[in-house]
Amino acid sequence: MLDTPHPYPVINGPRVIERHQSMAAIGATGRGGVNRQALSAEDTQARRLLLSWCSARGYASEIDPIGNLFIRRIGKRPDLPPVMTGSHLDSQPTGGNYDGVFGVLAGLEALESIDDAGLETERSIELVVWMNEEGSRFAPPTMGSAVSAGSMSLETALGVVDVEGISVREALDGQLAALKGVGRRPLGSTGHAYVEAHIEQGPVLEAERQKIGIVTGIQGICSLEVDITGFEAHAGTTPSRSRQDAFVAAMVLLERLRSELHDPEDVLRFTVGRFNVLPGSPNTVPGHVTFTIDLRHPGADHMQRCCETIRKLASGTIERCAVSSRLLLRSDPVQFAPWIAEEIRLAAARHGAPHRIMISGATHDSRYASCKMPTGMLFIPCEKGISHNEAEKVCPDDLTIGAQVLSDAVCALAQTAK
Ligand code: HGY
Ligand code: MN
Ligand code: MN
Repeated sequence: MLDTPHPYPVINGPRVIERHQSMAAIGATGRGGVNRQALSAEDTQARRLLLSWCSARGYASEIDPIGNLFIRRIGKRPDLPPVMTGSHLDSQPTGGNYDGVFGVLAGLEALESIDDAGLETERSIELVVWMNEEGSRFAPPTMGSAVSAGSMSLETALGVVDVEGISVREALDGQLAALKGVGRRPLGSTGHAYVEAHIEQGPVLEAERQKIGIVTGIQGICSLEVDITGFEAHAGTTPSRSRQDAFVAAMVLLERLRSELHDPEDVLRFTVGRFNVLPGSPNTVPGHVTFTIDLRHPGADHMQRCCETIRKLASGTIERCAVSSRLLLRSDPVQFAPWIAEEIRLAAARHGAPHRIMISGATHDSRYASCKMPTGMLFIPCEKGISHNEAEKVCPDDLTIGAQVLSDAVCALAQTAK
């Protein structure tokens, strides 16, 4: 916190609201949400729109080898590590208009408000748009920030393919060709501090009438893919006793997992979000099933035990089918920097925004940013906590308050040269 009172720039609420409306038009699904998956034409279009706003301000932009985008507002001391803020523009296939977008546009609003106030910050400020936070087209989630933090190798990430067999490398080459005037930078960008603003994607803030969530950390996440191989056969002539039905094996396995992982406190999060049955013909016994498991828990040991249970049960033979699993992502719970949480708390208090401490149930790029630099997050409420759904909604006042609190925190962090 600065010793002398500092004229914090007042953000332009109508501008940040209008920017969200312009961004929502890109990949609009016609049901109120967006489908703007990583490295798609819509993702590229959204990045180009953001870059048009940034180049109008004279901000320089660079992209790293995994497609993370960095937009820089130079400070008095460009030699010092910058303050970083941002989030992601890629969405779920039936995503909402604020998941990720709010953090990017609130970050842009901070830069523009500082500009409009004619303020020169000590440190440069970098707005970051992480590549493939959602992981819906290319698994796992938070891919760009994980590669930037060295938690996933660049080659492994570039080799991941989508359901059509298109690789990250091919899709990224397409996007790089379309993003004119963007410089290149090596992997591993880091800074003095990173602050991410995001919608809560849960019901707590709204239920408690809070306006700001001061996020102190993120729970652990483990994502796996299970593979079950049986034998395709005729649905009409093959008796059960000689079937190797991969779908039946999957049902048996999932029943075992549900009972083994049952959590009466309802803290563990266990989700099967993608389930493929092949060959997918109504009159052929399924010979191959793959499905994903997304597991979350605030306790590292407990999550590890659950992960081990899944690996053990998803192995060997079930109903005469071969069962195996592979770990796509494992990330322990992380704690953020208390002094950044304090900047967020001061900013919320300064603007009279009711606030509370909380951890994040969802994962975010902050998880990997925190491997490289002191990190903090703030949440704003979203209606009924709905997210990863086209009905995701945020009230304009909450958007404005959140952008103001982020701007204050970024500004305060960028004014300290020590
Ligand atoms: O999955 C998550 O937690 C994030 O919203 N992509
Ligand atoms: Mn998100
Ligand atoms: Mn999301």
